[in-house]
Amino acid sequence: MLFRSKPNWELPESEATPEAMFRDRRRLSKALAAGPLLLAGAPALGLAQRAFAADPDMDPNAGLYPAKRNEAYKMDRALTSEKIATTYNNFYEFGSQKNIWQAAQKMKLRPWEVTIDGMVEKEFTIEADALIKRMQIEERLYRHRCVEAWSIAVPWSGFSLRALVDMARPLSSAKYLVMQTFHDKEVAPGQRQFWYPWPYVEGLTLAEARNELSFICTGAYGKTIAKQNGAPLRLTVPWKYGFKSIKSITRFTFTDKMPKSFWMEIQGAEYGFWANVNPEVDHKRWSQATEKQLGTGKRVPTLLYNGYAEQVADLYKDMKGQQLFM
Ligand code: MTE
Repeated sequence: MLFRSKPNWELPESEATPEAMFRDRRRLSKALAAGPLLLAGAPALGLAQRAFAADPDMDPNAGLYPAKRNEAYKMDRALTSEKIATTYNNFYEFGSQKNIWQAAQKMKLRPWEVTIDGMVEKEFTIEADALIKRMQIEERLYRHRCVEAWSIAVPWSGFSLRALVDMARPLSSAKYLVMQTFHDKEVAPGQRQFWYPWPYVEGLTLAEARNELSFICTGAYGKTIAKQNGAPLRLTVPWKYGFKSIKSITRFTFTDKMPKSFWMEIQGAEYGFWANVNPEVDHKRWSQATEKQLGTGKRVPTLLYNGYAEQVADLYKDMKGQQLFM
């Protein structure tokens, strides 16, 4: 990527401006060059710009989807329907039931600032749209296994978390990446429930964050990711239980201390830092041996590391004695 020579927030105008509008602007410049008769187009452009500013749901990166599929990530089962994946959700900010998808529409996605801070060469803040625009977007088919013993298979689009880590330039002393969700009680009624330790926080070791599977989702089902699935930026680490896959991220912090996640804070004995999927290690209150595949009526055996042992088992080979599977 070509942005190394400039500070991360300094984008050429072609990148900082929504693609369609940029094209319109070029058309306008051509029109202006062609002569005064065509100047009638100018006020219309102003209106278009105002319309964009007024509609925070309009994605200037919508043209990135559907993204080219990365065939390295094979799927061994039918994909879950978009209807199920977008209406059966966990997003405690909007309630502890599965049917929060309508409540989640209250999120305003623009402006959406993302801060990169902590143990990095230089802290900075960037608009989510500008960040997405500079990343290589691709589609990957991933299994998702919730700690509650249900699973889905989703065509996500997004970019590798490793690319974001590289862009952030962490210090060599940094060992963990902590991610944080937005915090706004007006938008998210769940965040008025004071007994939860808001905002939602999750973390990975830097080695995990750099693993090829760690993915920041910006799209799903061939289009921009839905709010209820964690727009505009949602982590997916498919070898771990689903609660590690934090939604609607606003902050990436590099640190040398293992963070305490949202669920560790609530019930550390049941939801640990590692939370790798393992059918042989039961949750304190239920078995993890099998999972209900949503939409199929089937219950199937759960696989070690959710079937991704080949990509991740090495990360943990020297960690005997740690509670890797809860
Ligand atoms: N992220 C935030 N911010 N808040 C949440 O409540 N729930 C987690 C994870 N990410 C959650 C979150 C859990 S428990 C699961 S299983 C997945 O999101 C669910 O993702 P989905 O609704 O897209 O299937």
